[in-house]
Amino acid sequence: MLENSCLFVEGGHKLSGEVTISGAKNAALPALAATLLAPGEYQFFNVPWLVDVQTMLDLLCRLGAQYETTNEVLYVDTSKAQDTQAPYEIVSRMRASVLVLGPLLARHGRAQVALPGGCPIGKRPIDFHRKGLELMGAKIRIEHGYIMARAPRRGLSGAEIIFDFPSVTATENLMMAAVLARGRTVIRNAAREPEIVALGAMLKQMGAKIEGLGTETLVIEGVKELSPTKVSIIPDRIEAGTYLMAPGITGGEIVVKKAEPAHLETVIATLREIGLKIEVDGDQIRSQRGKQLKPVKIRTAPYPGFPTDLQAQAMALLSTVKGTSVIVETIFENRFLHVEELCRLGANITVEGRVAVIQGVKRLQAAPVKATDLRASASLILAALGAEGITEISDIYHLKRGYEAICQKFGNLGARIWEAPCRNYP
Ligand code: UD1
Repeated sequence: MLENSCLFVEGGHKLSGEVTISGAKNAALPALAATLLAPGEYQFFNVPWLVDVQTMLDLLCRLGAQYETTNEVLYVDTSKAQDTQAPYEIVSRMRASVLVLGPLLARHGRAQVALPGGCPIGKRPIDFHRKGLELMGAKIRIEHGYIMARAPRRGLSGAEIIFDFPSVTATENLMMAAVLARGRTVIRNAAREPEIVALGAMLKQMGAKIEGLGTETLVIEGVKELSPTKVSIIPDRIEAGTYLMAPGITGGEIVVKKAEPAHLETVIATLREIGLKIEVDGDQIRSQRGKQLKPVKIRTAPYPGFPTDLQAQAMALLSTVKGTSVIVETIFENRFLHVEELCRLGANITVEGRVAVIQGVKRLQAAPVKATDLRASASLILAALGAEGITEISDIYHLKRGYEAICQKFGNLGARIWEAPCRNYP
């Protein structure tokens, strides 16, 4: 990335062509953390090359692991991963670093993980992770900004855990802790995201005993030991959903390749309701604008509901759909930071609490805008693709955390999008 670079998007070009979906960031991160559960060499395929993945690899290295990459494969070797401290310097770069807490505690009986700190989209506490581990026998205190966790001498033991809310990373953390605990752990109101099912499948390949994957009750029988494995990362449903929305804004027709349509059922249903023509053929999904788009009401919810990670992008699309749309954000209390930026592009959106009301406008207009978080960045690109003129997007480092080669991928579809030194931002 160029220093102080911005993304420039010239709107008004129809998109057409094919785009290949990368591996899912949110599946790669827990899969990498799981390598701490058993020493040895792992092989990963379809890993997206993203800053967040690099951060998790940096963290694993800090804990004593090593890695190597070729074009196709990421090799991770945790034979010498003996350290148990995840430092603030790394955790502060990425909240998902907390995913090493469960594996470290389960395998080494102790872990010191820096508290992740603030997050613009909401409070994002880690109390579910903490309570679950405590129920499994861990002693946890917060000291000097670190979660200091210790398992009893005989290790963690199975427990009955009931989540107040189906948290994704808390389910993953506790599942990873439970696979090496003594006895049976039951996690109720567990999250059901495809990334959790994928992690469960990896753990089972390693020798874990897990039942109920993809349901709200997980039953895990602890085993003494696990062994390394080979994993192919599942396709990124958020990246796929982002590209599927694009023709709704720009017109044209695109084919999303190497996706997993089964993970996108609610998203596809919503896009069809808006009036996009979506056709599924194996792992390919064709998206076309359709004649007349309609406003809709969207409510984000845990999987299989509409993903909060596609809320900002859907808002960009609805900004240009005639009529009144409503989006209710139920997962994070402050995930409307993109609204002001979309309004700078000419959108007409008002927010009250967790509800955004969108009055579709005929045309958006280019303006300098700021990316406020990862998914907000993608929504600004979508909006800019449909806006008149050249939009300059600053703070694009967020994008590199979660969208692989986005300029190149949109460019191949006919978009005019490039990175260059900022003009409007010092
Ligand atoms: C994961 C995803 C993120 C996505 C989110 C919701 C990864 C790496 N990140 O984040 O992209 O936006 O799921 O689909 O997979 N909560 C608590 N206490 C806790 C944990 C969570 O109150 O201990 C609350 C959160 O504040 C939030 C809600 O639960 O309001 C859901 O958050 P959660 O599912 O935990 O999100 P993450 O796992 O952090």
